[in-house]
Amino acid sequence: MELEGRVALVTGGSGDIGTAISDALARAGCDVAVTFVGNEDGAKATAGLVEAAGRAALPLALDQRVESSIEDAVAAVVDRFGGCDVLVNNGAWNIGIPFPELDRLDAETWDRVLETNLRGPYLLARALAPHLRAGDGGRVVNIASVGGLMPGSSSIAYSCSKAGLIHLTHCLAVALAPEVAVNCVAPGLVEGTRMALRLPEAVAAGARRQAVLGKVGSAEDVADATVLLCRADTITGQTIVVDGGMPGAMNFG
Ligand SMILES: NC(=O)c1ccc[n+]([C@@H]2O[C@H](COP(=O)([O-])OP(=O)(O)OC[C@H]3O[C@@H](n4cnc5c(N)ncnc54)[C@H](OP(=O)(O)O)[C@@H]3O)[C@@H](O)[C@H]2O)c1
Repeated sequence: MELEGRVALVTGGSGDIGTAISDALARAGCDVAVTFVGNEDGAKATAGLVEAAGRAALPLALDQRVESSIEDAVAAVVDRFGGCDVLVNNGAWNIGIPFPELDRLDAETWDRVLETNLRGPYLLARALAPHLRAGDGGRVVNIASVGGLMPGSSSIAYSCSKAGLIHLTHCLAVALAPEVAVNCVAPGLVEGTRMALRLPEAVAAGARRQAVLGKVGSAEDVADATVLLCRADTITGQTIVVDGGMPGAMNFG
């Protein structure tokens, strides 16, 4: 799909990886709606990058745990741009709870993680489906995690939410075909990000140790993989892992 002149909605565009994705999509020719929850300044800074690339930007409040907030955000994007061609489900929430500490992972935390990281992306895809299907079709890219491919990440809830998001990618690839291609990027540790800072240190150290390239994933490679999946016309239901080559995450997708 030619990206010049397309409209993209990047959830969590105020965050570290969302900034890189918004910037890369803008440089590929997209106007970008950049969502935030608490970090409005971050979203505005990302919007500045989009505009510096010569494209229009729309910073937008969105709490994807709340259905009415999703409906409002979709309406605002359509009102501003007349439609939407690309959804990047990048927004997510994590908390560091080592896997063996089951008593610390209570029902409330489980629900917050699953509502944000799995239910939200589904509701966003559902709300945007008529717009993504319109014209000559659209793209969804879900940002998951290697924690969804193997049991290790900030918490059991996060790992399960990302495993669910990877399978949601498969299900939506079937549901939205043939008009919309749905794919996934699964980062490993991305150094310096807020999410990485919330990882238990042993998990971060394990990711560094296992990366056969001697370095972990980068936000730029996640962004480039997202653009590739938006451009591609014959790829759907797939996952690209960006983690410096952790053997345990190879042979998935
Ligand atoms: N960083 C890593 O090492 C790493 C590794 C694997 C996978 N990932 C995945 O990469 C993606 C981006 O992560 P990141 O490192 O850029 O994290 P980040 O800097 O913490 O950004 C997370 C973004 O999600 C938004 N968000 C949080 N709760 C939300 C909600 N209820 N509704 C809508 N948006 C919400 C945040 O908004 P506000 O800041 O405005 O509140 C922020 O924009 C996530 O899907 C994450 O799971 C990251």
